[in-house]
Amino acid sequence: MSFRSAITFLAAATAATAAGVASKHKGYSSVPNTFPSIAACATEPSVFSCENTTAIQNTCCSPTPGGLVLQTQFWDTYTGYESQGQLLPHNSWTIHGLWPDNCDGSFAQYCDLNRQYDPFPPKGVPAYSGPGVDTFLTAFGRDDLLDYMDKYWVSQGETNAGFWAHEFSKHATCTSTFDVACYGPDYQEHQDVVDFFNAVIRAFKQFPTFDILASAGIVPSNTSTYTLSELQNTLQKQTGGIPYLGCGNNGTVLQEVWYFNHVYGTEQFGRFKALDSTSPTTCSSTAGIWYYERTPTSEREVRDLDLILW
Ligand SMILES: *[C@@H]1O[C@H](CO)[C@@H](O)[C@H](O)[C@H]1NC(C)=O
Ligand SMILES: *[C@@H]1O[C@H](CO)[C@@H](O)[C@H](O)[C@H]1NC(C)=O
Ligand SMILES: *[C@@H]1O[C@H](CO)[C@@H](O)[C@H](O)[C@H]1NC(C)=O
Repeated sequence: MSFRSAITFLAAATAATAAGVASKHKGYSSVPNTFPSIAACATEPSVFSCENTTAIQNTCCSPTPGGLVLQTQFWDTYTGYESQGQLLPHNSWTIHGLWPDNCDGSFAQYCDLNRQYDPFPPKGVPAYSGPGVDTFLTAFGRDDLLDYMDKYWVSQGETNAGFWAHEFSKHATCTSTFDVACYGPDYQEHQDVVDFFNAVIRAFKQFPTFDILASAGIVPSNTSTYTLSELQNTLQKQTGGIPYLGCGNNGTVLQEVWYFNHVYGTEQFGRFKALDSTSPTTCSSTAGIWYYERTPTSEREVRDLDLILW
């Protein structure tokens, strides 16, 4: 496509999108809020999770017992679903989830089978076969959130919606601030799911792994490796904690990062305080670590290209 036809194409696409949005939604004010009902938290003492010295009475106000909150991300080089348009975001790591570890690092999973939407759960948990959780988002008018999730919360070897469902049912159902009871008497089914996804995105934006590493000169390379300490130090200097780094191939291929936090207030709105990982890294402290470039056909630009073209 020539430069000029690219501009024409983008202008047409923008007009079509605007028309689509206008016809689908009655207007800005019709998109409902999904936040919890936490007026009662105003009279509770507020502390960082896992740092309370007296019992937390209202668990809608602070994640309890899962107060060691992990924002987890992947560095994948392909998705396996490229033919279906499931591509990785250029210049960004991808979201894994937001996990409620107990203060000692142990954790619970699938805590509420009434909110089981995972199509491929482990043995003992009934599989879900209803509409995908992406339809929950559109039902609440959150096409904006769905669009962001499709760009940055990208699965490998599974559809994105199946992965998002897995993350909600395995982890959010064990996170007290997303309990159905926290949404009050006007709770609408799936409100908590949309609210959780929103909270995951907010948490992810606090940890821009790609940008932190790149600004220290640590960029994906298929010709040279990095050391564990340079990776850890670079991330620790910006976040305040040493995150867990996960590596494959006997500790030599960087694949994952987990940022550990205590949270002041709720996961929805509160402040995250970074802590050192309680899990030992699986990356080698002696061998060089590969931070591989992606397969070019497995990724796409997700920022607004039309701004650059204009
Ligand atoms: C913190 O609150 C939780 C939940 O109420 C409670 O189980 C735990 O014992 C409290 N911690 C301390 C040190 O009081
Ligand atoms: C894995 O790494 C360890 C420590 O670096 C090394 O001693 C061992 O030989 C490696 N194993 C393989 C199969 O490469
Ligand atoms: C870099 O290496 C990885 C791992 O072998 C491979 O999947 C990827 O396609 C390579 N990327 C480029 C741009 O060569």
